[in-house]
Amino acid sequence: MTTMPEVAGTKPIRVPVEAGKSYWWCACGKSKKQPFCDGSLKGSEFSPMEYKAAAAGEIAFCACKRSNKKPTCDGTHKTLAPPAA
Ligand code: FES
Repeated sequence: MTTMPEVAGTKPIRVPVEAGKSYWWCACGKSKKQPFCDGSLKGSEFSPMEYKAAAAGEIAFCACKRSNKKPTCDGTHKTLAPPAA
């Protein structure tokens, strides 16, 4: 059975990255340090995903955890239902 990750946010989180540096993206959606892993996934079926920056710049990391281009945003968040009021 596949568990869906939690939606950590409904829009991407933009983070400046340094060339050659690795960043560990939160795949489970439970991290308190979005969009990156803080170890909250322990005991789940998820693993953090490495993003190795090829160049310095700003990256839009996926926060909804539904992107088809994980760990970066592909616009899938726009298809999610708005949070209940
Ligand atoms: S935040 Fe997940 S696709 Fe945009």
